[in-house]
Amino acid sequence: MTMSHDQDVLNVQDEFIFPAVRPLYENPLVLTEGQGVRVKDIDGREYLDMFAGILTTSVGHCNSKVVARMSDQLKTLGHTSTLYVTKPQVEAARLLASIAPGKLSQTFFTNSGTEAIESAIQMAFVHTGRSEVIGLRQSYHGRSFMTSNLTAVGSWRPLATSFPGIKHVQTPYPYRCPYKQPCDASCTEKFANDIEDVIRTTTNGKPAAFIAESVMGVGGYIVPPEGYFERAAEIIRSYGGLFISDEVQSGFGRSGDHWFGIEHSNVEPDIMVMAKGIANGAPVGAMTTRPEIADSWQSKTISTFGGNPISMAAASATMEVMIEENVPARASEQGGQLLEGLLKFKDEFDWIGDVRGKGLMLGLELVENKDEKKPFASKAQALLESCREEGLLVGIGGLHGHVIRLGPSLLVTATEIEEGLERFGRACHKLGAR
Ligand SMILES: Cc1ncc(COP(=O)(O)O)c(C=O)c1O
Repeated sequence: MTMSHDQDVLNVQDEFIFPAVRPLYENPLVLTEGQGVRVKDIDGREYLDMFAGILTTSVGHCNSKVVARMSDQLKTLGHTSTLYVTKPQVEAARLLASIAPGKLSQTFFTNSGTEAIESAIQMAFVHTGRSEVIGLRQSYHGRSFMTSNLTAVGSWRPLATSFPGIKHVQTPYPYRCPYKQPCDASCTEKFANDIEDVIRTTTNGKPAAFIAESVMGVGGYIVPPEGYFERAAEIIRSYGGLFISDEVQSGFGRSGDHWFGIEHSNVEPDIMVMAKGIANGAPVGAMTTRPEIADSWQSKTISTFGGNPISMAAASATMEVMIEENVPARASEQGGQLLEGLLKFKDEFDWIGDVRGKGLMLGLELVENKDEKKPFASKAQALLESCREEGLLVGIGGLHGHVIRLGPSLLVTATEIEEGLERFGRACHKLGAR
């Protein structure tokens, strides 16, 4: 069977792919090509991609430097396993250390964010000799048994069985702050108190780690109030635990001005986890830490595909492009332009309750009305579809699926942002002001 039409492909998907793997849109989109911030579907229709395969094609679809480096590597040496040393792996690790904050210098490469988070928690348990971890409600950390339990968005947790030792604290969520509106730095202490309270009441007082996304991704691009991470780090360290920053979405310049989202706070994490944008779509995850922490992992460990030469060539080429193009500055500038445009829509439409995020990681929280802030999931779904009709790809998230998420390639230009805003505006107008 030749699959030349979307319906043919969709039929095969239905028959042979797990139904739990649910694509976006009522009528799923079949993509066949991509270049920069543009993708094409199977019928040749072009879209402006403002979601970048979930913030992953960080330097654009089929970036020529990344493609060339991967193709060269594929023709030279395609696989070794970590039983052998390769130049591509050590080069990628060295580049990563050159942009990682402070003393974070040693890396373990994996094939996905899930695996890297799993490794980071294991690392914290091994290093501290403890086995309890504190995470945030509304966080997303992966799809394995442990990481889906660490995840605290119910719809992404497949099992009723709990992984032992995982505790969740209050979401530092300014738009829905239970303490004060508008939420500000004075609420930080109250959110932080919850961390201490959870440690004292639900653990044996000896947690191995606190883990958080520096900007919460799947949860709806939530940015904690000022000073939150400084307090969280102080508290977890006062109980002898490590601070782990999940930079899977917010890393590599995405949040603007800095290479990693946590650098907006005055906190140097003990362990940092990355994936997605690190290799422009090649399957790479990474956990990076200080040598004395890495040293405490004394048992043997291996990854057959982690650190694979082709993936590592992609990671190095992607990081080199990011450094050449100074993507933290670009994300700040283009993100500022995008934020300004989106804020205008907030004034115009009753159902846009909040516009927020950092750099090129921006979201709109949709509500039934601005006073009661009831999540408006059906409107978010309608807006997603309406954007598609306008040839614009965006994402969706939030606990109720009511947050529209934008996260284009970090090389997106001012003109492309302008075009995206025009298309987004037309998509919003189709849904009416109320
Ligand atoms: C913040 C965060 N951590 C971890 C993961 C898991 O990464 P992966 O899907 O590569 O396993 C994701 C994926 O969306 C994520 O957003």
